[in-house]
Amino acid sequence: EKGGYEHFMLKEIHEQPRAYRDTMLGRIDHDNHQVVLPELKLSVEQIKNIRNVQIVACGTAYNAGLIGRTVIEQFARIPVENDVASEYRYRSPIITPETLVIVVSQSGETADTLAALREAKANGAHVLAITNVVGSSIARDADDVLVTLAGPEIAVASTKAYTSQLIAFYLFGLYLAQVRGTMTKDEIAHVLAAMESLPEQVEAMLNNADTIKSYAEHIAKHKHLFFIGRGQDYAVVQEGSLKLKEISYIHSEAYAAGELKHGTLALIEDGVPVISLITQESVMEKTLSNIKEVKARGAEVLAISYEEHAAELLKSVDHVITIPKTLPVLTAALSVVTLQLLAYYASLALGHDVDKPRNLAKSVTVE
Ligand code: F6R
Repeated sequence: EKGGYEHFMLKEIHEQPRAYRDTMLGRIDHDNHQVVLPELKLSVEQIKNIRNVQIVACGTAYNAGLIGRTVIEQFARIPVENDVASEYRYRSPIITPETLVIVVSQSGETADTLAALREAKANGAHVLAITNVVGSSIARDADDVLVTLAGPEIAVASTKAYTSQLIAFYLFGLYLAQVRGTMTKDEIAHVLAAMESLPEQVEAMLNNADTIKSYAEHIAKHKHLFFIGRGQDYAVVQEGSLKLKEISYIHSEAYAAGELKHGTLALIEDGVPVISLITQESVMEKTLSNIKEVKARGAEVLAISYEEHAAELLKSVDHVITIPKTLPVLTAALSVVTLQLLAYYASLALGHDVDKPRNLAKSVTVE
């Protein structure tokens, strides 16, 4: 049942290239360089009238929504808010008929997410569910469903569901851009071509996991560590930090790289690992100066970046792990795989039950 893998989590990490392909399958019109989502009821008129988007979810699905926000804002230029589902209802969110609410849920059964969906509907919003389970409560109650084709996810720690949610957001973001005319045909074609290379790029990463494994064994000796990043990298490290806590029980915090100096820098001392995801070229210099701030306080820094920056980065950091190159807006679909493997191998090194971490359940049906 584990298909030769030691754990479901590792199997599911390795299923990601397939999950990316399946989630894209039939949704890209290659002749016209367009996204086609015939399953959506959302009309062209409705899409043109959307004034704001609220993305609501829990845990890893929330973290996928953080990427969803950057994608929709960049592609379609619509303002997006992210909410944790257990908070959403209690802040009296401003919902109008021109609000599109996107709920994200692997299982489609998370109680808080379902309650948020019902609240949004009751207030007149159109609700789109991004879910992995077609017949789930969330799929049934939503106005529209965009199914991720990750296949069943057994390990408690979500991996292929998260990355399939990213693919769904890329497709949906491009679809909005197409309808609203915020991107040219060429720009859309360019993103689609890069998306179609992602599965092979993940395969290459999975065949080169040795450095990640040995770095994981190294951090397994530590009690706490930090992740930093800017922009999309910040969103991805939030997921990396959650994954590491969840299965290795190593305490970590994910910080926007520029925010550390506003208090948290006090926790940096000799030998504390700081994992810096540094892929966004427009802010690379800025992150590099944050890396220097932590190095000066004794931190031991790992940088995760593209091959072309490795030599330069090694002048400032202790270790570098590289990832394949893609467009800045798609980088999460690759970089997160490194962080998933890091969490997996750290948990393994510590002898924990990778697939069934303590205190957690796969589907959270209480509020
Ligand atoms: C973490 C994890 C959880 C879930 C969260 C939401 O690895 O799996 O954080 O993402 O409980 O679950 P769904 O997506 O089923 O609503």
